[in-house]
Amino acid sequence: MNEIIKILSKVDGGNILDAATGKGDFINTLKQHLKSFTQIIGVDTSQRCVDYAQKIFPENNIEIYRMNLEDMQFEDGYFDTVCISDALHHIKNREAVLNEMLRVLKPEGLMLITEMYSDGDQTPAQETHIMMHHWVASVDRLLGTYHQKTFTRQELQDIVKKLPLKKVEIADFYVPVDDPSKNCPALIRNCQDIIKRLQTMENTEAIIAEGKELMERIKDIGYAGACRLAITGYKKK
Ligand SMILES: C[S@@+](CC[C@H](N)C(=O)[O-])C[C@H]1O[C@@H](n2cnc3c(N)ncnc32)[C@H](O)[C@@H]1O
Repeated sequence: MNEIIKILSKVDGGNILDAATGKGDFINTLKQHLKSFTQIIGVDTSQRCVDYAQKIFPENNIEIYRMNLEDMQFEDGYFDTVCISDALHHIKNREAVLNEMLRVLKPEGLMLITEMYSDGDQTPAQETHIMMHHWVASVDRLLGTYHQKTFTRQELQDIVKKLPLKKVEIADFYVPVDDPSKNCPALIRNCQDIIKRLQTMENTEAIIAEGKELMERIKDIGYAGACRLAITGYKKK
């Protein structure tokens, strides 16, 4: 986690877009660790997430809107900083969304991308996170929600290489976990709820079996957040 804190602690964020804000977890990280900011605007297509995030951020300088990132209602160059955290693999039209994020970013403005990756040196507990993520993504796809497997480290670098950014820096980080068994009861309950839902659907035997194996792994090995990349770069003029 230190790397992302180190990066944020040097940033005067100004007007910030948090793209695909979900329930606002990354807004909390921004609020806590940025050197300074003027305003944070979180955008998501999910009404449930927007309602939740609007409730937990009563501050006047934090606003949450339901909006599609492919077509945002902000002027060109409106933001000093644009962020997207742990969401690239949820975005169907990734190129369109990244282009739109760059449109609303002012020239020389900062783009920050954080995303977990699925390869490299991960502990067995981190491998559990990756496996759980892949299982949940398969369930989401079965239910009709776009959710891809996480990218590899190289795939993320290749995505960023295509963007018109300069001074690109890439740092690895993860959230250290003292006790990999700590969150296991909640994760197992989460798996059980998903399995209950799958049991009401046809042809789900294989994915249910996968979920049960995953629950055993969570009990045996535990869980820790996988490694992530923090990528920063400045929009070319
Ligand atoms: C894993 S969540 C985001 C997590 C969040 N950034 C955080 O730090 O906790 C992914 C989010 O992407 C949103 N999303 C996917 N495609 C989108 C789009 N085209 N426009 C806006 N939001 C989108 C989903 O609704 C979902 O809430």
